[in-house]
Amino acid sequence: MITNKLGKFIAIEIKDLDVREVISKETINKISDILTEYSVVVIRNQNITNDEHIKFSENFGNLELTKVGTDGSGSKLIILRNFDESGNILLPTDRQRLNNLANQEWHSDSSFKQIPSKLSILSAKIIPSNGGNTEFLSMRASYNALPQDLKIKIDDKVCWHDYSHGRSKIDPNLVTPEEKQALPPVKQKLVLCENKHGKSLYLGAHCRNVDGMSENDSNALLAEINSYIDTEKFSYSHVWEPFDLIMWDNRAVLHRATPIKGKIEKRLMVRTTVAGQTPTINEN
Ligand code: OGA
Ligand code: MN
Repeated sequence: MITNKLGKFIAIEIKDLDVREVISKETINKISDILTEYSVVVIRNQNITNDEHIKFSENFGNLELTKVGTDGSGSKLIILRNFDESGNILLPTDRQRLNNLANQEWHSDSSFKQIPSKLSILSAKIIPSNGGNTEFLSMRASYNALPQDLKIKIDDKVCWHDYSHGRSKIDPNLVTPEEKQALPPVKQKLVLCENKHGKSLYLGAHCRNVDGMSENDSNALLAEINSYIDTEKFSYSHVWEPFDLIMWDNRAVLHRATPIKGKIEKRLMVRTTVAGQTPTINEN
């Protein structure tokens, strides 16, 4: 497989892959290994249909069904767009635009689920000429940057992740009662050890508080951890070309969209989400 490293800590491009072809089990394992090591895999020039996207994704596990309240609800696809059926840019107050805004916060997809997602696979269909990058932050590099005493202090800590927490900061009405009911807060380990490449921090916009600590102490601990995370140095920013396909390990990186610069132009992305196989903790 021909690869090219993209970021200092994470991200690699696979150059000789056409995801529409029948891909052998051996190749899928190879891609999985590369993904486990580099956390973000970029494959360019993949002009695929939604069905081809789903088929390729299912090589890596069962796909999550899109939750209520998101475009694509009930299907295996999430549609991220900022324009309506007639091609008009949506108002900034439209739910879709607000959800896109929420995606500009560092997050891990589905960390609000009892068994959070393993990986996400995002395909760029229409991209604006300026801005609208997706950035990925290595949570292994972030963990490694912590001082030893802090590492020891947080090793067994558990956090509550709550979908409405991050969303309501964007707009108090963004989370519907239906979504609130479908997505009660869940506990996740703060430090994950998923593979031989080392431990990683599990944080992001859905992370509300550290279990068993007062609000003040919890906020202070999360702020202390965050103070060591160099979001510039530990990240990779992807400038999209149409038909780029990116896969990322939700248990090893956080990601966020960057704002579209200047006049708002159309952006259309389609995502599948491969479900995790194990919870991060045994209780819940
Ligand atoms: C996502 C996501 C960011 C972007 O698809 O999960 O957060 O840049 N996307 O669209
Ligand atoms: Mn996301």
